[in-house]
Amino acid sequence: MSFHEMWAELLPVGRSAASGGYRRFAWTGADTDCRAWFRQQAEGRGLAYEVDRNGNQWAWQGDPAAGDAVVTGSHLDSVPDGGAFDGPLGVVSAFAALDALRERGARFTRPVGIVNFGDEEGARFGLACVGSRLTAGAVTPEQAHRLTDADGVTLRRAMEAAGHDPDAIGPDPERLARIGAFVELHVEQGRALDLSGDRVGVASAIWPHGRWRFDFRGEANHAGTTALADRRDPMLPYAETVLAARREARLAGAVATFGKIGVEPNGVNAVPSLVRGWLDSRAPGQDGLDAVVTGIEKAAREHAAAHGVDLDVVRESFTPVVEFDHALRDELVRLLGGAAERSVPVLGTGAGHDAGILAGRVPTAMLFVRNPTGVSHSPAEHAAEDDCLAGVDALTDALEGLACT
Ligand code: GLV
Ligand code: MN
Ligand code: MN
Repeated sequence: MSFHEMWAELLPVGRSAASGGYRRFAWTGADTDCRAWFRQQAEGRGLAYEVDRNGNQWAWQGDPAAGDAVVTGSHLDSVPDGGAFDGPLGVVSAFAALDALRERGARFTRPVGIVNFGDEEGARFGLACVGSRLTAGAVTPEQAHRLTDADGVTLRRAMEAAGHDPDAIGPDPERLARIGAFVELHVEQGRALDLSGDRVGVASAIWPHGRWRFDFRGEANHAGTTALADRRDPMLPYAETVLAARREARLAGAVATFGKIGVEPNGVNAVPSLVRGWLDSRAPGQDGLDAVVTGIEKAAREHAAAHGVDLDVVRESFTPVVEFDHALRDELVRLLGGAAERSVPVLGTGAGHDAGILAGRVPTAMLFVRNPTGVSHSPAEHAAEDDCLAGVDALTDALEGLACT
């Protein structure tokens, strides 16, 4: 099955007719459909298919027990109303690259694995990269079991409902020990390649990033009869905090976003009792990120106090700066440069990835495919088919260089 055919098959799965965006949330029906697609692709190619203890899917060419495997892949879940490319491009390209290797008559010297990591975006349960974090021991099974979605369904229950044993989850060091290299191909979430005129680039580093929950608690009251002076309205310090986030991020050359909010009781004619906002912040370095988050929290506390509102701030997740393996990165630059030794751009990113979680345990690298607008986490996310095919070629060259004679 060609790249084009695989892409077309996956395209309708989990797409909202209303927005044109994807709602492929972990352990839902759309996710199950994506996972069935992965399994079909694996089995259709005669690859050994398995689901690991954390629900990540694997397809193997060769025996992973031999060790020193080269693994590629990405994720199939999405953010709310996400694009088609973030995640699936890496998985579809992985199967297409394996097909190309077979067509080239490549002789494999190392096992090659294709992976679909579960719940990369954390759209449903709030924590990103749950599948890879569990595998790497970066979140404990107890912490994961307690994660809860907006309807109060725990991850434990969601896994059970989807047919995965939640008591099986946990670190998987033996699996990681068998992997000699992980290469994740991903659509670029920025315009660096478009500006440099390149179709494909190699990643250098991922900015440190995290998610913080701000709970502003005030007092519910009547919107018509409560004098302004008598209100303890949590929406006001929340609004001031959003502005402070923008200011702090600008000063530090960082980014800070309140993109998700919960309001109680959420009535048009009621002063809210609770405003819960989630901050996502990222910076080129740890000191900058610390300064931004500290500054935002300080402003939030001052504004909350001024309005008689209580504030709790909880860090829900954090990923430190990731510097990808230099030797593997340089090897990819060499392999992609080809005999003509073309220069291949090396770029950093503010986006999080399973590759960032694995990087602490396994030599890891990433390839980026040009995105002409840079838009991502939106239905408008796009990459031209020619560029996607250039990405497949690059991944094929990389796998050939790493895993074949
Ligand atoms: C995932 O795409 C993230 O960067 O949050
Ligand atoms: Mn994403
Ligand atoms: Mn992604």
